[in-house]
Amino acid sequence: MRRRVLGIACSPRAGGNSDLLVEETLAGAESAGGAVELIALRDLDLTPCQECDVCLSSGECPIDDDFLEVLEKLLACDRLILATPIFFMSVTAYAKALIERCQCLWARKYVLHQPLFPDQQRDRRAMLISVAGTKSEQMFDCIELTIKYWLDVLEMKHVSSLFVNQIDAKGDIRKHSSALEEAFRMGQSLVTDAQAPDKPEVIRLFGGLSGETALSGDNL
Ligand SMILES: Cc1cc2nc3c(=O)[nH]c(=O)nc-3n(C[C@H](O)[C@H](O)[C@H](O)COP(=O)(O)O)c2cc1C
Repeated sequence: MRRRVLGIACSPRAGGNSDLLVEETLAGAESAGGAVELIALRDLDLTPCQECDVCLSSGECPIDDDFLEVLEKLLACDRLILATPIFFMSVTAYAKALIERCQCLWARKYVLHQPLFPDQQRDRRAMLISVAGTKSEQMFDCIELTIKYWLDVLEMKHVSSLFVNQIDAKGDIRKHSSALEEAFRMGQSLVTDAQAPDKPEVIRLFGGLSGETALSGDNL
């Protein structure tokens, strides 16, 4: 059966750098036989967690918006690609809202002790894509723990990350010498690799564009 590959675009900027990377990754996954789908959180109605605590007893989120539709896709997919630019040293607010809403999965797992997939072992894998405008090589450290914690509740193994810095203007990723090629290759690997690696493959493409002006945060 074809692997279901879900890409989630978390930038507010349609056609921006992280969008282009996730599209290329999905193109790679599709070329390798995956059944791909892309959703952009900016097009959805998704509020952050309201901490009503209903999920602590029910495992369900009572907020009536587009989250349930996304949750179904998150649970159905075999491969997940989350693509977010760095905004103030974090994931975007769109990504954070989605992550927080998965508190209902956290409640199922750690409070109610209900396995996500009671009847089957699933081989679920995830890739993280991120882009940042500054030169700082630490810019992506800040999101790694957030994603690790989220993937734990999703019962997904983090298999790869693609980080590209010094990419700021819309579409500048197209000028990068290798980012889109790497994205395509990593998308293929998501589908074709027989075994998930013990540790994630992390591709850091630092300083890809020359002649950048200095930005605040470069020295962090
Ligand atoms: C609100 C906002 C906050 C940002 N914060 C950071 C930051 O903390 N560090 C950084 O390196 N770049 C930062 N950037 C730059 C973006 O990460 C960069 O422009 C990226 O290429 C945008 O990707 P996109 O086209 O997919 O939206 C910020 C941009 C915006 C609009």
